[in-house]
Amino acid sequence: MLHLTDTRADIAQAVALLRAGELVAIPTETVYGLAALASKPDAVAKVFAAKGRPADHPLIVHLPSKSHLAHWAAQVPDVAWQLADAFWPGPLTMVLPAATHVSPLVNGGQATVAVRWADHPLLQAVLDELGEALVAPSANPFGRISPTSAPHILEHMAGRIPAVLDGGACRIGIESTIVDLSSPTPAILRPGQVSADALAPWLSVAAHAPANAPRVPGALAAHYAPRHRCYRLEAGELATLPSDWDWNHTALLAFGRPHAAAGWQRVLPADPAGYAQTLYATLHEADQSGCELILVEMPPDTPDWAAVRDRLGRASVGFAQYTA
Ligand code: TXA
Ligand code: MG
Repeated sequence: MLHLTDTRADIAQAVALLRAGELVAIPTETVYGLAALASKPDAVAKVFAAKGRPADHPLIVHLPSKSHLAHWAAQVPDVAWQLADAFWPGPLTMVLPAATHVSPLVNGGQATVAVRWADHPLLQAVLDELGEALVAPSANPFGRISPTSAPHILEHMAGRIPAVLDGGACRIGIESTIVDLSSPTPAILRPGQVSADALAPWLSVAAHAPANAPRVPGALAAHYAPRHRCYRLEAGELATLPSDWDWNHTALLAFGRPHAAAGWQRVLPADPAGYAQTLYATLHEADQSGCELILVEMPPDTPDWAAVRDRLGRASVGFAQYTA
């Protein structure tokens, strides 16, 4: 796999590959995406093959600028323009009625399309050069943890894609907030750094997707999983582990402060943004620590931790399900 950097020649090479209908892993502020030209069904089809992703799972269209919204959405309600003004470029994806030209490969044959203008200088350089949108799901094999740096992609996508454009570690670290504006009741389909509270000045959103909500594979239970079994410990549960617990074969993601008995451990930050930024990288690291299982000490069940707890909830099972 080509490891491209921020030189002009490398950006030009990424653009050339994309124009030729090839895939390039690209940095965004949230996680790395696996990009293909949104206007080329052949290129979009390669994304599903490279990820091993079921074909009916829709993709997010990454726009070169706000004005492209009108090209991809059949109607853009006022509130969507207002949210674009407030949050773009940034970690907010909007689901809107799809324009008729949108390929069923892009939106899973639904009547809607997901769009976002992401915030990363290297991606922006590529989009400016292309002058058109890219589809970009997270650049992980289907069901695995999303990549937040180029080495994750070099390791997990080797042999599946021709190139990665290295933009350093992602600033936010978890995927964008997805808000559905296509139905009469707006809803957050996937929590992210842009919270329901942050959206409140423009719209009030249901915190959970209504039953008939569009498909979001991120909502599958077994999503974002590390390779090793991963258990979550809610407040107080760490203290209830048996005294002969095998810490030599356990990787612990401790919350806020280290655990005296632990072997391999990483202490995650006690603030939601700091935790999110390092979460996937730390899970990748734990997976490769030589452990047999991973324990995660959960952050509190409060609204400010909703996005982080959502991802941890999908990466792990409750400790009550532990079997030796
Ligand atoms: O932060 C992000 O959003 C990253 C970066 C690369 O931009 N992308 C990302 O893409 O997380 P992906 O494909 O891993 O997740 C996109 C989510 C999926 O859960 C998909 O089902 C949902 O967006 N989605 C896409 N189109 C949709 C639609 N029309 N209606 C509802 N959900 C949709
Ligand atoms: Mg994903």
